Amino acid sequence: MTATSFFLSCLLFKGALALTGSFWHITDLHWDPTYEVTDQPELVCASSGKRPALSAGRFGDYVCDSPWHLINSSVYAMKSILPDPDFIIWTGDDTPHVPNEDLGEEAVINIISNLTSAITEIFPHTKVYSALGNHDFHPKSQLPAGPNTIYNRTAELWNHWLELESKQTFKKGGYYTEKLLNRNGYRMLVLNTNLYYDQNQVTQNMDDPADQFNWADQILTEAAAIKEKVYIIGHVPPGFFEKKRSKPWFAPKYNRRYLDLIEKHHSVILGQFFGHHHTDSFRMFYNKDRLPISTMFLSPGVTPWETTLPGVVNGANNPGIRVFEYDTDTLLVKDVVTYYLNLTHANAARGRWEKEYRLTESFRVPDASPASMHQTLERLANEHCYLQKYYEFNSVSYDLTDCGSDCRVDHVCAAREVDFDRYEDCLVKEGAASVFSGRLLFLPIAVSLLASW
Ligand SMILES: *[C@@H]1O[C@H](CO)[C@@H](O)[C@H](O)[C@H]1NC(C)=O
Ligand SMILES: *[C@@H]1O[C@H](CO)[C@@H](O)[C@H](O)[C@H]1NC(C)=O
Ligand SMILES: *[C@@H]1O[C@H](CO)[C@@H](O)[C@H](O)[C@H]1NC(C)=O
Ligand SMILES: *[C@@H]1O[C@H](CO)[C@@H](O)[C@H](O)[C@H]1NC(C)=O
Ligand SMILES: [Zn+2]
Ligand SMILES: [Zn+2]
Repeated sequence: MTATSFFLSCLLFKGALALTGSFWHITDLHWDPTYEVTDQPELVCASSGKRPALSAGRFGDYVCDSPWHLINSSVYAMKSILPDPDFIIWTGDDTPHVPNEDLGEEAVINIISNLTSAITEIFPHTKVYSALGNHDFHPKSQLPAGPNTIYNRTAELWNHWLELESKQTFKKGGYYTEKLLNRNGYRMLVLNTNLYYDQNQVTQNMDDPADQFNWADQILTEAAAIKEKVYIIGHVPPGFFEKKRSKPWFAPKYNRRYLDLIEKHHSVILGQFFGHHHTDSFRMFYNKDRLPISTMFLSPGVTPWETTLPGVVNGANNPGIRVFEYDTDTLLVKDVVTYYLNLTHANAARGRWEKEYRLTESFRVPDASPASMHQTLERLANEHCYLQKYYEFNSVSYDLTDCGSDCRVDHVCAAREVDFDRYEDCLVKEGAASVFSGRLLFLPIAVSLLASW
């Protein structure tokens, strides 16, 4: 290589680097401070709820929330894999799955405080955008539509990450917006969608809890007027859980309203990043002509905790963390790289975080735009090898069993339809064996009767 061509290739290399930025997404850390390896499996951790932790080790167990060792290991893994991200998004759920009586307000705040300290110490110079999860409150999921001690104190704990105005809206409603990295033309919207969770008793009779929809509509309207590009982050997602048929999280009216918000403002929204599922999935948003307009990425959790939601089979996962690569000019999401810890291996040998997969490689798409994610969805809906790959990634390579026809319908319809009615239609159209949640209708004759109604 001549000196000139070397110089040119360096220039090109620099140019390409300048366009691609990256950020971390971590979610659902669920620290269980009671975790301790003992010879009584039922007593290893409070979050197992007396289920025996049969392979408990330093890094945790699949029926338990995260021991501190796992939390520390995950944040250090981030530091060693990508030490200098443009920013970090952290979408909540810090406390263990235990009865309310075992936590209390002070315990919740202390847990948020410890996790905040760990992230701050390991990434002292990195901007963190942080959303509350339904477990970041006492009593859990009852996040109010107005000021309270936990919003107040969390805003203080996150003081170094929040601008003055963000602190004010956060203290009122648990949400905020800022220019993304302080750059003109780019914006981050941090939502408190726990207000829309159907388990939240204190917001069910409201029209627009904490005025958040109205506020978001205004911010996004203004964003369009001044040509800003926006990322949205939050914890509880709209739509359905892909591991349990017909299981939504939002109350119906809030699900509709969220969809309306995205449909109205999709042209300025370049990505939505949520948690809560602990699994790795995504949700598509389409316009009236069924063109893909937006994608919500559901990132896997750090906690391996096997869900106790009735009807979910094999509902644990390996701990996962994720890098998004994006175009710093357009905010287009270019790729998604997921890293994971094989918990079994970590306990047996050593904690080794490794790349699980890169979206564009595994699904042969050019990027992670809505068009490409639509292509990914169609691929896994129609070709079993892609479905199987997606399914293994869904549990972060924990459940490697075959994804059969019912499994296919559950995952495809959850990813394709955020709207409640359209989801039910999808189940029928995709040939779900028993549309009425596993009751008697699995005879072919019953299915054909149903279809003719
Ligand atoms: C956290 O992990 C780092 C890197 O592996 C290690 O050096 C440190 O001792 C750990 N700290 C705790 C409290 O586990
Ligand atoms: C959590 O924070 C408290 C109070 O700062 C501290 O005493 C404790 O050591 C922390 N625990 C861990 C595991 O870092
Ligand atoms: C929250 O903090 C504000 C000051 O920032 C204070 O006026 C208010 O009383 C606090 N509310 C609660 C419920 O702690
Ligand atoms: C995780 O590690 C265990 C034990 O080493 C191994 O049997 C299993 O195949 C590994 N899983 C994956 C997905 O590599
Ligand atoms: Zn969670
Ligand atoms: Zn949650």
